Amino acid sequence: MAYSASLQSDSSFAKARSDIHAESKNLQKVTLEEALDVLNDLVYKARTKFLSEPEIVVIRGAWHDLTYEEMSENSAYKQNYLHRRVAITLFELLTEIIGNGEQVCKRNLRTCIQTFMTQDLIKGSKVPDVSRFYGRTKEITHLKQIIATQQYNCISLVGVAGIGKSSLAAKLITDISTDKNFNFDYLIWKSVAHAPIVDDLIAELLEVLDPHFTQPHYTQAKITLLLKFLKEKRCLIVLDEFEILPHNPQLKLESLIFIRRLVEENHQSCIILTNRVLFDEFAELVNTERPFTFIKLKGLDTDAAMKFLAQKGITDPRRCNQLIQTYRGNPAELNDVANRIHNMFGSTEIFFEAPTTLVSQKLESILNEIVGTTLDDIHKQIMVYLAEKTVEGTGKITISKILKDFEIIHKTSISTLDIVKTLEFLERMSLIESDKNLISKEICFTLQPVIKKYVLTDKLGLLHNLNSSNLKFAS
Ligand SMILES: Nc1ncnc2c1ncn2[C@@H]1O[C@H](COP(=O)(O)OP(=O)(O)O)[C@@H](O)[C@H]1O
Ligand SMILES: [Mg+2]
Repeated sequence: MAYSASLQSDSSFAKARSDIHAESKNLQKVTLEEALDVLNDLVYKARTKFLSEPEIVVIRGAWHDLTYEEMSENSAYKQNYLHRRVAITLFELLTEIIGNGEQVCKRNLRTCIQTFMTQDLIKGSKVPDVSRFYGRTKEITHLKQIIATQQYNCISLVGVAGIGKSSLAAKLITDISTDKNFNFDYLIWKSVAHAPIVDDLIAELLEVLDPHFTQPHYTQAKITLLLKFLKEKRCLIVLDEFEILPHNPQLKLESLIFIRRLVEENHQSCIILTNRVLFDEFAELVNTERPFTFIKLKGLDTDAAMKFLAQKGITDPRRCNQLIQTYRGNPAELNDVANRIHNMFGSTEIFFEAPTTLVSQKLESILNEIVGTTLDDIHKQIMVYLAEKTVEGTGKITISKILKDFEIIHKTSISTLDIVKTLEFLERMSLIESDKNLISKEICFTLQPVIKKYVLTDKLGLLHNLNSSNLKFAS
């Protein structure tokens, strides 16, 4: 069958290629010895026999552009033997292994090896550039550890827009592609920001894994084929920006079934999702101890955020600290404010003469969307309540205070359970923050400054339409 045959050849080479990549970080400077190591490994994987002495003579000779006569003079083998007996079968084998459609011969061997070794090891869509990536050491170590131990079939990186989910996933998969301790057969990066329907997504994944697959007609059969592949081969697949559209029940159901099958069925692969929100159904998978976990991403730590701001030209430690605090180390928001400081204020000093909290265009439109489509009245009331209370100077509001105030405001119409559920939901959406009082252990809530600014200004009247007489503006 085309399926298993192509699995066989592709995967062993993919694995070999990840070893190769690990061994030669600067591929442009590949030496003959490195190339020999790599070829030896590949050849062994293909025919379970390492390169023989005369084969090495031919490879060395081809590398240095020697004639067969010269190869013979420098070795113990006859010219004819090297040329007719050794080289012909060797090049046939190398064509199969590293040729990528091209006939490998003495003349092009060196170029073929170099091209092969510089091939992109991560298939699928373009991985975000992580050449300027700071911090996240703890998260990366943790992720590598849980991936290595194969504890989970699926890991979700959750956090507010711009916090660095895609960057973290990109850094992780890039690191893994050059790390010898990981023996993935396939590394795949797939951006799903365009929210493809599940059927298309799986078809695209199968196409990336093996263009020769005969794809079944029905979605579930496609998933079954994908799972079979994930069981036979170890794949690391990142589905970046995997958001489930709540407004289309049919699509939502299909997405959830797809994830459930990835989580619950047996395989040896790992799927990483980046999500702005931890869906209820995902939380349920954690609660029921399925091989699913999530990591809630906070902003960059101070050290990493300082480096990030320094690269944007803001270096005064005190100012940096203020910005990091206000924007909670969210790199997209820090980037946006740094640009605005340069473009509108000209310098950090002028900006800080009358500092203001700036909400980036992107965050504003995301919040408009969430507030306009996902929040109901009780969610909005609590957001406005917290924003106003924290402006009054209370900072963090305890759960008992919230319950008491709501009882007074709404008498019996909102139950304690409704409020608790609302607070949990808003926190999951990264719209509010919680903290525990160290002494009383009571939980308290607050809004981060950018969200508070958004709620209080409420340009579109999305939050205050219930009680529009009570608008207040934050500085
Ligand atoms: N650890 C980091 N170091 C440097 N820049 C980062 C880091 N994390 C995120 N960024 C930058 O912040 C911006 C938003 O990050 P991104 O990963 O796209 O966020 P998300 O996927 O959570 O929306 C990007 O421009 C990215 O380059
Ligand atoms: Mg992203």
